[in-house]
Amino acid sequence: MAGDITQIEYWNGEVGARWARNQAVLDAVFAPLTEALFDRAGLSPGASVLDIGCGSGTTSLEAAQRVGAAGAVMGADISAPLLAVARSRLGAQAPGAAPVTFVEADVEHADLGGFDAALSRFGVMFFPDSDRAFANLRRMLRPGGRLTFLCWRALPENPWVQVPREAVLPLLPEVPPPVSPDTPGPFRFADPDHLAGLLRGAGFGTVACEAVDRDVVLGRGESDAAAAEAAAHVALNLGPSARLVREAEPDLRARAEAAVTEALRGYAVGGAVRLRAACWLVQAG
Ligand SMILES: C[S@@+](CC[C@H](N)C(=O)[O-])C[C@H]1O[C@@H](n2cnc3c(N)ncnc32)[C@H](O)[C@@H]1O
Repeated sequence: MAGDITQIEYWNGEVGARWARNQAVLDAVFAPLTEALFDRAGLSPGASVLDIGCGSGTTSLEAAQRVGAAGAVMGADISAPLLAVARSRLGAQAPGAAPVTFVEADVEHADLGGFDAALSRFGVMFFPDSDRAFANLRRMLRPGGRLTFLCWRALPENPWVQVPREAVLPLLPEVPPPVSPDTPGPFRFADPDHLAGLLRGAGFGTVACEAVDRDVVLGRGESDAAAAEAAAHVALNLGPSARLVREAEPDLRARAEAAVTEALRGYAVGGAVRLRAACWLVQAG
């Protein structure tokens, strides 16, 4: 996905910096999916929770609210810029929330202690060795503990990514490589049988993959044209299609922005671009 660079380099470079600058934008796009994640996770008051690939900390802070002062939350990530945003938000926690710690750690390898629950919003698709990472996560769960996470279903089921992607593809000099479950990337776990097999192989006894579909608002504006521009910014800077133009020359980038804005204009209604997002909501215990 990210050429020859490692995941640590990828999430500490320009991509991590962009995500860090746009935390509120991303949270707004993912809001309906985040709600589904927490509904399923069913965190109990007093629980200790690990947030895997916590990014700028939104789901860790939400978990802390849900488990309350008797609980504890650890957010783990490999991205220093995202963790800096996460730590800067600690002071704004509402009273009654659990203490939260943010640690720079690779959850494929690190031993972070024992947890009653682990969760992740799109943070489990980037392990170089998924077998090892899920086995490590299994080890960190106490008896009865559950892992709950969101990952993407296949590209064609995700118009919020597919529409901008199809606008960009004709402009590219090379066709991007097909998605492989063995390579880190947002769509690697599109096949639920493969994913369930991985989790069982890592020691999880029960695995359920529920299809969750939600409309996400990719951009808003005072007019439909402005909403399409905002949505194109998200698609080409933050969403999975951003990787298509990550290293593009300014001319190609400008043409991609124009093409994506035009494609998304067709989905703008009442000052908002709304498109379908399709995930697996996975729970393993
Ligand atoms: C798509 S982002 C999601 C971030 C956050 N969960 C959110 O929803 O805003 C994926 C995150 O996983 C983190 N990540 C990737 N590989 C990791 C690893 N091996 N250990 C910990 N975090 C990792 C990245 O740094 C990045 O923050």
